[in-house]
Amino acid sequence: MKACIFDLDGVLVDTAKYHFIAWKRLANELGVDFTEHDNEQLKGLSRDASLDYILVKASIIATTSEREVWKERKNNWYLDLVNQMPEDEVLPNCKELLAELKKHNIKIALGSASKNAKLILDRVNITQYFDAIIDGSKTSKSKPDPEVFLLGAKEIACQPEECIVFEDAISGLKAAKSGGFFAIGIGEEEVLTEADIVFPNLLTLNYEQLLKIFRGE
Ligand code: BG6
Ligand code: MG
Repeated sequence: MKACIFDLDGVLVDTAKYHFIAWKRLANELGVDFTEHDNEQLKGLSRDASLDYILVKASIIATTSEREVWKERKNNWYLDLVNQMPEDEVLPNCKELLAELKKHNIKIALGSASKNAKLILDRVNITQYFDAIIDGSKTSKSKPDPEVFLLGAKEIACQPEECIVFEDAISGLKAAKSGGFFAIGIGEEEVLTEADIVFPNLLTLNYEQLLKIFRGE
């Protein structure tokens, strides 16, 4: 185990709930319902792919300029919520785990679809832990494509099989597994069936235990 690659929204920071609120608001405005199940499908997808999902559900064929307006509207609602987010919305044990991994010379990368990733890392004060930050501005393919994690591994000079990926999204776990990574799901075991192992959150995780899990002990 040479590196850990973390998804951001829903793994390190409790922003998944704000994405949900903002997408739901947009979907409702476009005249379509948006449920927890819909939200689960959208986790990990890019802003564009998420809008595609909602437009298909609403049977809307949109022009490029309509799409831009709707994506910006959703993002502004999202940013309004994130900008009110206190620093302690970083999820429990996140900072401790990142610090412990650093102490053991484990490389740390971010593999997020979000174009707001840097802003959020700064807001909760964890940017300094990352050796590489791959966000939505550096990728051309949305999860479940493994591009984001492969770019992360490359930037820290590691092979996929030397890394653990932490993900809360079905699409993200598919991306990690198809890229050849060991994948830890953060959330519910019944939902995250692609993961090698699932934990409800980061709370109980530590370096020694991750080593054991990675070695299959
Ligand atoms: C992912 C989230 O991390 O980033 C998605 O799980 C979100 O819900 C995607 O749509 C893109 O984020 P942003 O911040 O660029 O709109
Ligand atoms: Mg996520």
